[in-house]
Amino acid sequence: MFSDHIDFLKYIRKLANTQVYLEIGVQSGTTLFSETGDGLVIGVDPDFHIEIPLRETCHVALFRETSDVFFEKDHFGTVSGQPVDVTFVDGLHWAEFALRDMRNAERLSHRASVILVHDIYPRNAAQAGRTDNPHAWMGDVFKLLPALRRFRPDLQIAAYGDVPYSGMAVIWGLDPKNRVLFDRYDDITRYMDGLDYDRDFATLVEPTFESVGSATFTQMTRDIYRAQRRRSRNGSGWRRHVGLALGR
Ligand SMILES: C[S@@+](CC[C@H](N)C(=O)[O-])C[C@H]1O[C@@H](n2cnc3c(N)ncnc32)[C@H](O)[C@@H]1O
Repeated sequence: MFSDHIDFLKYIRKLANTQVYLEIGVQSGTTLFSETGDGLVIGVDPDFHIEIPLRETCHVALFRETSDVFFEKDHFGTVSGQPVDVTFVDGLHWAEFALRDMRNAERLSHRASVILVHDIYPRNAAQAGRTDNPHAWMGDVFKLLPALRRFRPDLQIAAYGDVPYSGMAVIWGLDPKNRVLFDRYDDITRYMDGLDYDRDFATLVEPTFESVGSATFTQMTRDIYRAQRRRSRNGSGWRRHVGLALGR
């Protein structure tokens, strides 16, 4: 159904009617500029090298820094007056980095936003290791899935192992005010440190994978679409503020 993660990403960006898109881990810009529309596109990567020709009307902000610095200095707030609609987490492939990127993105989101996490499906221990592997390296990002399910059971999470080539997790039903991932960071990283690919992946992670052809995929699509529609009907962000200011 989806030829690769770029195709899947385009689908979600369209579905969520994305006006503000944030990408952690840009590299050459292949995913960043896959679906620009007329919204704002924000990319963060200490070592990006854009190879995609930009459209004249494209609104882009690129930050050559690590995601931790980007969030800590609130650089998002300097370029966007609205929350982020879709965030793609594809930076350093270590579980604790994906966790920090995810929790920081959620803080900048609204209730109808979506967070995508790449590289959840390593096929062997070398791909799931902590050392960059030039052939295929997903790292231990997969540990984020059981961790979120354990510490944030309120989140909606669908992990698609069949999005080529390394899987994609979709997280929605976000709560920007929830503090659990900040307050229990040490507990969560300790839990993730205790997971082992050879021992745990096949029993704890793989069985939770869903298929893009399944009924749950349709359900996810419906949920995200409806949440987005509700948000536009209520007047997203600035419209509601203007309405309140004018007494409407
Ligand atoms: C797998 S590539 C991203 C690929 C891109 N999203 C795509 O699909 O075309 C990972 C990128 O993360 C960047 N990166 C590494 N550490 C990072 C960090 N701490 N914060 C943000 N980006 C980071 C690397 O420089 C690299 O370009």
